[in-house]
Amino acid sequence: MTAMQKQVSERGGNVAVNRSVVRGVGAYLPKRVLTNAEMQRLVDTSDDWIVERTGIRQRHIAADGEMTSDLGIAAARQALVRSGIDPVEIDLVICATATPDRTFPATAVKIQASLGISKGAAFDIQAVCSGFVYAMTTADNFLKTGQFKRALVIGAETFSRILDWEDRTTCVLFGDGAGAVVLEAQPQHGTRDDRGILAAQIRSDGRYEDLLYVDGGPGSTKTTGHLRMNGREVFRHAVQKISGVIEETLVMSGYAPDEIDLFVPHQANQRILDGIAKKLGIPPSKIMMTLANHGNTSAASIPLALNQAFEEHRLDEGSLILMEAMGGGFTWGAVLLRW
Ligand code: ACO
Repeated sequence: MTAMQKQVSERGGNVAVNRSVVRGVGAYLPKRVLTNAEMQRLVDTSDDWIVERTGIRQRHIAADGEMTSDLGIAAARQALVRSGIDPVEIDLVICATATPDRTFPATAVKIQASLGISKGAAFDIQAVCSGFVYAMTTADNFLKTGQFKRALVIGAETFSRILDWEDRTTCVLFGDGAGAVVLEAQPQHGTRDDRGILAAQIRSDGRYEDLLYVDGGPGSTKTTGHLRMNGREVFRHAVQKISGVIEETLVMSGYAPDEIDLFVPHQANQRILDGIAKKLGIPPSKIMMTLANHGNTSAASIPLALNQAFEEHRLDEGSLILMEAMGGGFTWGAVLLRW
């Protein structure tokens, strides 16, 4: 019997528990689009190589002076409007980002202030590409315990600022953007049929730091540094680690892969996603793909994909949504929720 099934049977499925229910989703992409054709003029690469190895065709790049907080604020505003919740009702703001405006204060605090929120708490989460999964998991734990009632969870990145634009092995992969969701604690029955977050799992293993990192920082070089990656090794770990944590998340909630209505993964590489989908038996028609147009936007990629799914009417009330990510650290994790 899984932990959740035990909880359900002990409670008879009738005792109310708090679940974190999505009330609204929003996103923002900078206007400037950088195509693979333009990329060919910056580094020794080709549209064919990028598309064949990654699935990426273009990415959005923040304008001069446009900061991570600006992207996050735009995404958050749209999510709030769609939720019908007044910003002053939000008591928790979490921003997942590896590209904060400043070393401190947290980008979340800036977003909080610009939305006119002055109660509760706001902080950033740094788990790179897994940031949104980490932020959703953290918010869920606060909402379940009743410490906060309504959370704004944002993934926002300006990765273009930490790329080495002379390194063709990394600069072609990433883009800028932001996405956000509004979560609200709502009483549910404590069964697997509830709405909201049903299971969340996060993992990390710092032994792999050297495979994906930034070669600078305030405490080491006093610079921002540039992203460095051993792509082949990251790839090797990705399918195995992500598939593993998805399986644990599904077991925890009592669901099988074929019950998922929509798979909304972190968008890193088409081949990684094909590998995971094949391993779990998820058909391509159930996978939300935005990689071709956005590139890898790190912590922003899942909420950007979730927003696109919403706008394409692929999220009905009751849909079972699976999200997953892996990133620098390594960090990885998965969230299962009912829309
Ligand atoms: N254009 C043209 N050629 C290139 C480029 C480029 N942009 N980049 C690398 N190459 C060359 C290499 O120099 C190499 O040439 P060589 O054989 O003469 O030495 C050749 O292409 C093959 O390089 P590999 O690194 O072996 O290529 P690979 O098939 O592994 O693809 C890639 C590289 C796309 C980075 C892949 O390894 C990958 O996607 N890894 C996962 C990384 C990732 O997604 N990280 C994101 C964060 S973690 C996450 O989100 C899962």
